[in-house]
Amino acid sequence: MRRPTAAPSTRSPPLTRRPHEHHHDPSGRTQRRHHRRRSGIGRATALKFAADGDRVLAVDVNRDGVEATVRAIEEAGGSALAFGGDLGEQRVVDAVVERAVAAFGGLDVLVNNAGVMDRMSALGETDDAEWDRVLRINLTAPFLLTRAALPHLLAAGGGAIVFTASEAGLRGGAAGAAYTAAEHGVIGLVKNLAVTYRDQGIRANAIAPGPTATGIRVDAAPEAHGPAVIGRLIGAVTGRISSPEEQAAALAFLASDAASFINGAVLPVDGGWSAV
Ligand SMILES: NC(=O)c1ccc[n+]([C@@H]2O[C@H](COP(=O)([O-])OP(=O)(O)OC[C@H]3O[C@@H](n4cnc5c(N)ncnc54)[C@H](O)[C@@H]3O)[C@@H](O)[C@H]2O)c1
Repeated sequence: MRRPTAAPSTRSPPLTRRPHEHHHDPSGRTQRRHHRRRSGIGRATALKFAADGDRVLAVDVNRDGVEATVRAIEEAGGSALAFGGDLGEQRVVDAVVERAVAAFGGLDVLVNNAGVMDRMSALGETDDAEWDRVLRINLTAPFLLTRAALPHLLAAGGGAIVFTASEAGLRGGAAGAAYTAAEHGVIGLVKNLAVTYRDQGIRANAIAPGPTATGIRVDAAPEAHGPAVIGRLIGAVTGRISSPEEQAAALAFLASDAASFINGAVLPVDGGWSAV
C-alpha cells in the first residue's frame, strides 16, 4: 500500500516514501535530540520523518548543512539521503526528483520548505535583486519542485504535498513586501493544487509558522521603512518563539493519514498570533 507520509529535508524540501508501517519511538529519542540541535524547520522535519520510519531525501543549497542533517538522522538510528543544490534551478529540481524515485521506487510525500527572508523592505524600498531573490526561492522553487514531483505522486495513486508558508502569507504585518507577496503566493498554490488534484488523491496543505528559532537570516535594510513599522507589530503580539520541532510536528501531521480529509488548509503554528 502506498501511503502518504512525510518527508522533509533539511530545511528544504524533502521527498519521502514510507517503506512499511512505522511506529512511534516510545523512547523519546527524537525529543532529546531536539534539545541538542540548533537547526531549521527542514532539518527538524527530516529528523521527525526519519524517526517515524520514512525514507527521506533531504535537499539544501547548503551541502554541509544537509549532510549534517543526514548524519544526525543516522546517529539516531535512521537513514536518509542528502542532496546539495539550488532548488530555484530546473536542472537541480529534476535531479532531486530523479534521485528520490531511483532510491525509493516512488514518492508519497513532498515537503516544500526551503526559503529565505527578505530585508523587511517596504515596497518602495524593494529593489529588483531583493524581489527576484525572494520570489525565486520562496515561490518559484516550490512551483518547480511540485511540478516535477507530481507525476510520481500521481503514479503512486496520490500523496501529500506540504508547504511551509508563513504568517506573512496571512497578513501584511509580518515581513517586507517581497516575502509577504511570495508567502501569499505559496498559499495560492496550495489552494489551487488542493482543488485541481483532489480527485486524483493529492492533498496539498501548508503551515503558517510564527517566529521560529532557526538560522534564518534577516538582514534588515538599514534604510528600510518596513522594520520600523512591522517590527513593532511583531513584537506586540507574538508571545514566545516556537521551536523548529513544533513546526515539524505540524508538517508531519498534515502529511500523514491522520490528516486524510484535510486539503487546501493553512494551519497557523504560531501560539495564537494569528488570532490576535
Ligand atoms: N524562522 C521563522 O521564524 C519562520 C517563520 C515563518 C516561516 N518560515 C519559513 O520556514 C522555512 C524554513 O526556514 P527556517 O526558518 O528553517 O530557516 P533556515 O535558514 O534555518 O532554513 C532554510 C533553508 O533553506 C535553504 N535554502 C535557501 N535557499 C535555497 C535554495 N535556493 N535551494 C535549496 N535550499 C535553499 C537554506 O540553506 C536553509 O538551510 C522558510 O520557507 C521560511 O520562510 C520561517
